[in-house]
Amino acid sequence: MRVHCGDCLDVLGMLDESSVDLAYLDPPFNTGQSQSANNGSYDDCWASVESYLAFLTLRVQAIHRVLKPTGSILLHCDWRTSHHVRLMLDDVFGSAHFVNHLIWRYGLGGSSPRRFARKHDDIFFYGKTDAYYFDPPMVPATSARMKGQMKKATDVLDIPSLNNMATERVGYPTQKPLALLELLVTACSPAGGVVLDPFCGSGTTLVAAQRAGRRCLGIDTNVQAITVTTQRLHSRRPPN
Ligand SMILES: C[S@@+](CC[C@H](N)C(=O)[O-])C[C@H]1O[C@@H](n2cnc3c(N)ncnc32)[C@H](O)[C@@H]1O
Repeated sequence: MRVHCGDCLDVLGMLDESSVDLAYLDPPFNTGQSQSANNGSYDDCWASVESYLAFLTLRVQAIHRVLKPTGSILLHCDWRTSHHVRLMLDDVFGSAHFVNHLIWRYGLGGSSPRRFARKHDDIFFYGKTDAYYFDPPMVPATSARMKGQMKKATDVLDIPSLNNMATERVGYPTQKPLALLELLVTACSPAGGVVLDPFCGSGTTLVAAQRAGRRCLGIDTNVQAITVTTQRLHSRRPPN
């Protein structure tokens, strides 16, 4: 497990070409707001969608360089930019290397009298080549016919977001659930492989990789994120 404090563009430039099995990135979503919680905060404001996409494109190009031929990218975003991000990924990876548009359906959150409630994020899955690694994850079947059995996961992942009482919550804004990262890391990287999270925040991907027996590199510009990630990785508490 390695953790770097800095702009991921700079750190990615120092990594060897074709050295990473899986890059999962959960960058700022361009919400136009500062994201804060009791254990950290980060800015999420760009002057325009164009400048946000320019920022992301440079970093996705740098990720493409460091992925192995069997490697893949999982890019986490939401309704604000997903339509632009998919086209950008088509440009960088080639539309033929699109694998899935995953929907993370998280359940929690408010409602609106003016629209259908927004209850999902988007995760785009692209392989660097057709030889990308994939081991289909198994999830509990929900149909009455298959009750009590397991089945291959679909592209809709039903995993609750962290509620205020969740024991794994570390107080870093927009922290993602460990269950989501464990499913993605085990499905999209081989045992012992190298997982990269260039926007690691509280280090959820690194904890998932550690538990799944993968090596992991996390990068974040925010010193608070690096502190929280390091504490989480060295925690002697039962895994969360
Ligand atoms: C959505 S959060 C990641 C949350 C993380 N997935 C978790 O579970 O805690 C996005 C992170 O990107 C970081 N960030 C923003 N710009 C960055 C850059 N250029 N390089 C590296 N990290 C950056 C922010 O500091 C923030 O921690």
